[in-house]
Amino acid sequence: MISIDRSFFLIDKLAQTNSLTQEEYEYLICNQNKRTAEYLFERSRAVRESFYNKDVYVRGLIEFSNYCKNDCFYCGIRRGNVKAQRYRLSDDDILACCEEGYQLGFRTFVLQGGEDNYFTDERLVSIISRIKESFPDCALTLSFGEKDYEQYKAYFDAGADRFLLRHETADSNHYSRLHPKELTLENRMQCLYDLKKIGYQVGTGFMVGSPFQTAGNLAQDMVFLRDFQPHMVGIGPFISHRDTPFHNMQSGTMEQTLFMIGLIRLTLPQALIPATTALGTIHPQGREKGILAGANVIMPNLSPMTVRKKYMLYDNKISTGDESAQCLKNLCESMESIGYRIVVDKGDHVSFK
Ligand code: 5AD
Repeated sequence: MISIDRSFFLIDKLAQTNSLTQEEYEYLICNQNKRTAEYLFERSRAVRESFYNKDVYVRGLIEFSNYCKNDCFYCGIRRGNVKAQRYRLSDDDILACCEEGYQLGFRTFVLQGGEDNYFTDERLVSIISRIKESFPDCALTLSFGEKDYEQYKAYFDAGADRFLLRHETADSNHYSRLHPKELTLENRMQCLYDLKKIGYQVGTGFMVGSPFQTAGNLAQDMVFLRDFQPHMVGIGPFISHRDTPFHNMQSGTMEQTLFMIGLIRLTLPQALIPATTALGTIHPQGREKGILAGANVIMPNLSPMTVRKKYMLYDNKISTGDESAQCLKNLCESMESIGYRIVVDKGDHVSFK
């Protein structure tokens, strides 16, 4: 079979069975081109629309602390970056962000931050309870890294609904080239299984085009997603940050990221898949193209304007344009221009409705 025919065959197989072998995923990733990508996106859009119609869910992202005890080689808020200007939001700041977001139509808030020990479990439980009491019709998503089972359980019992923790790469050797040795893939996986067991809607994901990543690694990521069955999957291109050890490394591409979104949609037909800020950063239409490749979520920034530029995970992270929650109207218009609509909805995974 010539390569394009085999690619079409494998895309059809994936659409029908939601599963390929690692070798088959790798074949598709290695042999992708414009034609196979378009063929893939036609199918991934159809699958997405069968569960979520033309709806796009929005999440208000609140970046509540950029202190981090970790030193991940790729990340701009790593402990070792002495140039990062650190900040923390107070409980009242966070509540004010939610209030503003609620008025704008958000029904999910995402509390995202570095691994910051200032935020003890007691503080976290208190802020989670306050948010859920003030906004009982909203979902609360957490995203602040690795904790142990009891800690995750305490946040869940306080009312948190969802947790985002990217696995970053499913290959342990690759993992160790992106992280210092105190961080292991084994522990990351343990966290993900704990979160699922507790009852969270769980999100994971990875960077596309991260340093040392191979097509085989991306295929391993797909196999992991297929087997783990997360509710949400966030992926975006790696983008180098000037004050990290990876400052000279090449960034990932939009095309590769879109292709991976298509594969993820066909593997996890019901998943919540955001068109991420990183995708919007490498291309002005990145998020729209992400939706057209099968994504169904957008996460505008609700953080106070005064701190936005400080949450710089990578160079040139967009923070004052249409990706901001305050510009929801522009976002609505841009989604309508491609045939989709932003909805006022918690936007749960279909299995949680
Ligand atoms: N480029 C792209 N994404 C990054 N992240 C961290 N640093 C970068 C970077 N330089 C992603 C990681 C992390 C998420 C919060 O942001 O995947 O899990």
